[in-house]
This record gives sequence, C-alpha cells and structure tokens, in this order.
Amino acid sequence: MAIKTPVDARLAIEGGAPVRSADDPLPEIFPRDVPQESFDNIHEVLEKGLSSGYLPRFEQEFAEVNGAKYCVSLANCTATLHTIVAAMDIGPGKEVIVNPITDLGSVAGIMAQGAIPVFPDVDIRTGNVTAETIEKVISPRTAAIICVHWYGLLCPLDDIVALAQKHNILLIEDVCQAPLAKYKGRNAGTLGDVGAFSFDAEKHLSGGHGGALLTDNKDIADRVYLFGVMRGGVPVERYGRKHVRFGLNMRFGELEAAFVLGMLHILEEQNQRRRETTAALSQRIEEDIPGLIPPYIPEGGDHIYWYYHLRVDPDAFTCGLWELSDALMAEGLKAEPGPWQLVPDSHTFLHTKTTVAGESHWPWDHPMNEFAKDIEYSADMVPIAKEHVDTTIRWNWTDKYTDQDVEDMATILAKVTDRYRA
Ligand SMILES: Cc1ncc(COP(=O)(O)O)c(C=O)c1O
Repeated sequence: MAIKTPVDARLAIEGGAPVRSADDPLPEIFPRDVPQESFDNIHEVLEKGLSSGYLPRFEQEFAEVNGAKYCVSLANCTATLHTIVAAMDIGPGKEVIVNPITDLGSVAGIMAQGAIPVFPDVDIRTGNVTAETIEKVISPRTAAIICVHWYGLLCPLDDIVALAQKHNILLIEDVCQAPLAKYKGRNAGTLGDVGAFSFDAEKHLSGGHGGALLTDNKDIADRVYLFGVMRGGVPVERYGRKHVRFGLNMRFGELEAAFVLGMLHILEEQNQRRRETTAALSQRIEEDIPGLIPPYIPEGGDHIYWYYHLRVDPDAFTCGLWELSDALMAEGLKAEPGPWQLVPDSHTFLHTKTTVAGESHWPWDHPMNEFAKDIEYSADMVPIAKEHVDTTIRWNWTDKYTDQDVEDMATILAKVTDRYRA
C-alpha cells in the first residue's frame, strides 16, 4: 500500500498543517490501560491490610510465565542489578562489562560495590553489544557481563551465553525493556545466569515502580534474597536474628506486586500488537522511504519495542538529526535522538571519577583497582556506539497505536524526509 500524500505538503515547521495536530495527537503511553484485575487485586491488598500474599504469588507466577525456577522481587531494576553484584561478592579488583547505551540503573550498582564498569562497543544496527564486541574487553578481572536488551530488542544471546560460559563469567541480562520477549522460544532473562526486570511507570510491564530477577540457580536466588530482602539477616532461635553479612533493604511492595500481576496478564497481547504495528511501519519505510533504516532484529531474536528506532543515513538528507527531529515533532511524531543514553559520554561523573562515595574517587581509587585509575571514560572508547546515537532517532511505542496512527507516522516520515532529501 502506498504512503498517503499529506493534506498540506508544506512542513508544519515551515507554516504548513501538521499531519497530526495538537487536537488529534498520536496516543501516548499514559494514561495506561489498567486491567480490572489490577484494581481488584489492589482492593484485596487493602482489605487484607497489606498482608494478602501478593508478593509471593507474583514471584511464583512471574517465574512460571517466564519458565524460570526462581524469582526474587525487589524495589526496582537499579536495586536488582545492584543486589546481584553485591550478593555475588563482586567488588574491588573486579570488572563488570555493561552496554554503553543504557540507563544509569544498569551501571550504578557496579560502582557502588567497588567494581569497575567496562564498556564494549556495539553493533551499529542495533545499538546493542554482541559476543564479538564483548570478547574484546574481557580480562582476567571480568566477573560479570550485564547484557542490556536496549530498545526492547534482544542481543544475540546464543553467542553471548557461549562466550560467558567459555570464560566462566556470570551473565546477567538486563530485561527492563524486553519483558516476555523470546529468544529462540525461550524468554529473555532466562538465557543468562540471571535476568533483571524493571516495573517502573514507563516500562511495558508497569507497576508504578518495582523490579525482579529470574534465575534457575538457587545459590544466586538465596544470596540475593539474603542481601536485598533480609538485609543480611538470618533467623536465630531464641535470639531473633543475626546479620551474617551486610545487606540493604531493596524490597518490593504488596500493592505494586498486586498491580503488576494484573498487568502481566495483558502483556503478551500488548507485545504482539506492538510487533504487528511496528512491522507495518518498517515495511512502509523499507519500501518507500530511502535514507531511513528500520530496526534490525538479529536471527532468532525478538523485539517488543520499548523504543522504535530508525537509523538515519546522514548522506541522504540536507539537514542534521536534530533538525529532522524538530520537523517530525512539528508534524506530531515525537521522534528524537538519544545521545544522553550513551553512558560513557553523558554520565560526566565518570569523566571526573567523583561523587560515587563522598569526596573519594571510589571505586577507581581503591588499591585493588589500581589497574583502572587511568581509564578515561568518554565517547571515544565506543566509537560505533557514538555513531549509532548520532545517526538514530527513536520514540516510545505503545500498543495503543491504531493502524491509522501507523499510516500517519509513515506519512509524517515521508513528508519530512522528502523535504530534506539530498
Ligand atoms: C535498560 C534499563 N536498565 C535499568 C533501568 C533502571 O530501572 P529502574 O528504574 O527500575 O531502576 C532502566 C530504566 O529506565 C532501563 O531502561
């Protein structure tokens, strides 16, 4: 089907009529569709005075739905990843490899616990790490890999799992943006040793906030529970409890668990809807809009589109990425570059190696981290990731988009790119 001609060929940014005006905007993620089940569950929690048993119920069902043995729910994904690093005794003298394009939450716990974050480069097509890019930065000090499925697009896991096993390195999947996505039939978060999830308000599986991990490894589940739920405490008869290790309160709440459980039951349908609507847009772009490259999904993988991203061929247009974005915004499509998501560039405290712990240079000044004191964090350490963010626009994708909305997005993209075509 051909892309429809806009009513007004003049760009909205140049005074023309927008394809989607402020009176008829594209749907936003908020307000969310909240199933009746979430309302009923919350009601039950309140009626039972916050002792309804929804936390264990959620954990059991989340593990079952994903095909994992154990689930430990925690306060959010930042806390979950921090807890995993801490519970697995990863600290000074160790390195943790983590995607350069991600959220601080993927990285914070590494430094808090005294280990050194190491950023491999990415596949230009996906913005995600691969076994090849990870292998280049593995060292004898590498204790773990945090493999982030950025955009909701799964990393090529077969090779990454094999690499982690070959080097006997803990593989942690950051599944915040890809809950229930499938890799060769298995759920994301169950292919590595442990998978970490976020239920923050913006995520597809939302609880307002929250997090959880999945694992088949009882030792990992027990350690995480001890650190993040029990705060290092174990019960002792005729005494109370003793704190046998340091821990933090990273607990999840009954109300959020009750809410997320209802949301979990509508997630697969929403994921499927997002796969279908994005496929329709990608097809339009491939057929009719030269210069824009739709998301590439590695073989055997999946994408559930927390963001839909388009790579932009800089030679195809007379304008830069931000000008393109301004014009798309004016037409009603909130597509933007995301350079701030390149952590070694945007997280400037990494440049000065300050503020993680008081006035020290923790963790870089710890004697066991002598090897890391001269690391210079910057975009230069990950040139392909830098190129990726400099040539990519993206926007959050909601299952609420109708077929008409997708048609209008194609019209907007065609209208704007035609105007700026080189
Ligand atoms: C990939 C990724 N990892 C970690 C986090 C942190 O999650 P939370 O907000 O639940 O701590 C986020 C949140 O945006 C994320 O997108």
